[in-house]
Amino acid sequence: MSIELWTGCRAATMQAGAGASYGLVEDAAIAVEAGRIAWIGGRNELPAALRDRVTQRHDCGGALVTPGLIDCHTHLVYGGDRAHEFELRLGGASYEDIARAGGGIASTVKATRAASEAELRAQSLPRLRALMGDGVTTVEIKSGYGLSLEQEAKCLRVARSLGDEPVDVRTTFLGAHALPPEFAGRADDYIEEVLRMLPALHQQGLVDAVDAFCERIAFSTAQTERVFEAARRLGLPVKLHAEQLSDSGGAQLAARYGALSCDHLEWLSEEGAAAMAQAGSAAVLLPGAFYFLRDTRVPPVDLLRKHAVPIAVSTDCNPGSSPCTSLLLMLNMACTLFRLTPQEALAGVTRNAALALGLKDRGVLAPGLRADFVLWNVQQPAQLSYAMGFNPHRQTVFEGRPL
Ligand code: NIG
Ligand code: FE
Repeated sequence: MSIELWTGCRAATMQAGAGASYGLVEDAAIAVEAGRIAWIGGRNELPAALRDRVTQRHDCGGALVTPGLIDCHTHLVYGGDRAHEFELRLGGASYEDIARAGGGIASTVKATRAASEAELRAQSLPRLRALMGDGVTTVEIKSGYGLSLEQEAKCLRVARSLGDEPVDVRTTFLGAHALPPEFAGRADDYIEEVLRMLPALHQQGLVDAVDAFCERIAFSTAQTERVFEAARRLGLPVKLHAEQLSDSGGAQLAARYGALSCDHLEWLSEEGAAAMAQAGSAAVLLPGAFYFLRDTRVPPVDLLRKHAVPIAVSTDCNPGSSPCTSLLLMLNMACTLFRLTPQEALAGVTRNAALALGLKDRGVLAPGLRADFVLWNVQQPAQLSYAMGFNPHRQTVFEGRPL
């Protein structure tokens, strides 16, 4: 098998154990074989046996190389937009007011249901491409705007089809996102429906994980638990939108089901953080939603640090609370709004984002892992968090293939 060699770069490997550093390797070489990293280290230490098998060389021109970025929480497949609700909120209405008045998620459900599969794909693709332009090589996409078997299947098929692009798409079933209008006042009946949808969608190969929105404007912990039990029966991992608007103990519940992650967490308690630590669940922080909803309650980052909960950062790309398609901007916001260090922020979109998706083959640059990496026109990794709205992306390498 032939080897391609990338040199002329500094590599931020993001390997754990390197303390507060980025796992930096100066004057690095990355050897790629069959889409995987065969070796990474200082250029002068490249083993001769590997050097002899190099068939193609790439000069990175002094770039900083990081693992491909991972956006581990998005709802990017949806129809329409909610610019009008943005205007209403600017006029004084709150996100919860709008949801209770039948707008919010319900209005996106209407637009999503009305769109054909091709239209939905056409509307979603530019959002995906924007993320890819920021160096994203893995993206999670949730359903949750279809809310019936047929419509959820449509959304998940669109999400899967977006994997034709040079990006790895992971799909999450979020049937328990909101109550569809035909189930108004019958939340328990709708949960029964969700329990019928899940095995059918799983059988169609459309589900990598299962999520729910556990909140006073969505589903209770008891209802969420029924969804988690169903996921467990199918051997599917779970995640949870937890403690975004209130502390409902969702994190503790998710931890009992070994959740891959709990997401949002503005109202997370210490008990919740401790339970997550014990379960090995990642905390996915979503500064775009915090910003866009003008939230004032910052997620308890100190508690997450104290309990050594891995912190991930994501766009939460969705039409209602975070119409955001820049993961780089989220690095800056995670630092500015939540006081993450730039090192924590970058780990949050690489190593810890991989944990939040249960993926062990990516998120750091190390032998044996996928050769997904990004060349940046910066010297210091902190520059990626520092800039606002400037994109120093130079090139993405996806499964060893330069794009
Ligand atoms: O992650 N919290 C629930 N779901 C989304 C918002 C969905 C919407 O408003 O359309 C979120 O914030
Ligand atoms: Fe979300």
